[in-house]
Amino acid sequence: MSIGWAMVGLGRHTKGYIAPAINQSRNSRLVAVMSRDADRAGTFAKDHGAEAGYTSLDALLDHPGVDALFIASPNAVHAEQTVQAARAGKHVLCEKPMALTVQDCRTMIEECRRNNVRLGVGFHLRHHPGLAEAKRLIAEGSIGRPVELVGQWYNGQRGIERVAKREGLMAWWSEPDMVGGGAIMATGTHILDQVRFLTGQEVVEVTAMADYRGEDLDQAIHVLMRLGDGTMASVMAARLVAASDSRNDIVVYGSKGRVAANGVLATSLTGSLDVLTESQTYSRDYTEGDVYQSLIEGFCDSVEKGEDPDPSGVDGLRVVELTLAALQAAKEGRTVRLELANV
Ligand SMILES: NC(=O)c1ccc[n+]([C@@H]2O[C@H](COP(=O)([O-])OP(=O)(O)OC[C@H]3O[C@@H](n4cnc5c(N)ncnc54)[C@H](OP(=O)(O)O)[C@@H]3O)[C@@H](O)[C@H]2O)c1
Repeated sequence: MSIGWAMVGLGRHTKGYIAPAINQSRNSRLVAVMSRDADRAGTFAKDHGAEAGYTSLDALLDHPGVDALFIASPNAVHAEQTVQAARAGKHVLCEKPMALTVQDCRTMIEECRRNNVRLGVGFHLRHHPGLAEAKRLIAEGSIGRPVELVGQWYNGQRGIERVAKREGLMAWWSEPDMVGGGAIMATGTHILDQVRFLTGQEVVEVTAMADYRGEDLDQAIHVLMRLGDGTMASVMAARLVAASDSRNDIVVYGSKGRVAANGVLATSLTGSLDVLTESQTYSRDYTEGDVYQSLIEGFCDSVEKGEDPDPSGVDGLRVVELTLAALQAAKEGRTVRLELANV
């Protein structure tokens, strides 16, 4: 079975990562794309082998052979585009953050369920083999009882220059109503998702401190969490704040060992895994493969089986709940207890 993809939001992410990933994947084909600009839609379609480029979402969803929509538009637009696609009977793989409010996430999940289509979210790091192995080891009890998770994703100086240049061109990344948050929305959401993914636990309490550097949006944020089983987690994310040679690791310490995923927080398959437990010590390096291709292939497999994808819409909702609670904690200078929505 091959899933026919439509794509909206023809920017940096779809051009550099998602269109190539769809074209390389074993169970997908790129069928049609949409931009607000007709020339950009036509050029993108031609460059990436799609049959057509449109300027309207209705027309895109009507194109013959479209089974699923990949959404990589500005964060504030994700919810309405997901609802429109679900009502047209299309599966949706939506970029992170899934939406900017809990209510929008709930509506997206409910509309997809009502229309019997699958909803996934673009947390590509769940498909990093090192992080998947770390999750398995933790679940098997190899490191004993988890005690502390520490994750950090900062940019180095060259990364900052790239981001600053891009944001000069793509204004929505600096508009609070369109993006919803700064560092926490850009890279923080990925690490917050890893907190849940690696431990299998929900966060019950969160506090945070943000560095705004005179901007409207957090440029760096530190988030401290208590999980349901008592594990503590500490996450740091930055956008326009460089930490020279930042390692971008996630480490989980347990009562009987640790797993360290070094340099894995990235937009490519990279880094290594160091495992040190009472019964085993080993390292693995990751250099080959495409995490976005694995994300796409996994989503298509779930469509074929009629199952929820990993990550699912509910995973997207939980990270939005956590992100909003962290921003509230930073703003009010207090600890926030999470009340998870029923879905
Ligand atoms: N998972 C990951 O690793 C990852 C990495 C990067 C980004 N992302 C996510 O992907 C999404 C896009 O990010 P990006 O960096 O690719 O952004 P981008 O380069 O600015 O691309 C977004 C595109 O959306 C369209 N757009 C811009 N303003 C719009 C508006 N007001 N209404 C509707 N469409 C608009 C534009 O395409 P047209 O002008 O052609 O319509 C623009 O090129 C975000 O949600 C981001 O968080 C995820």
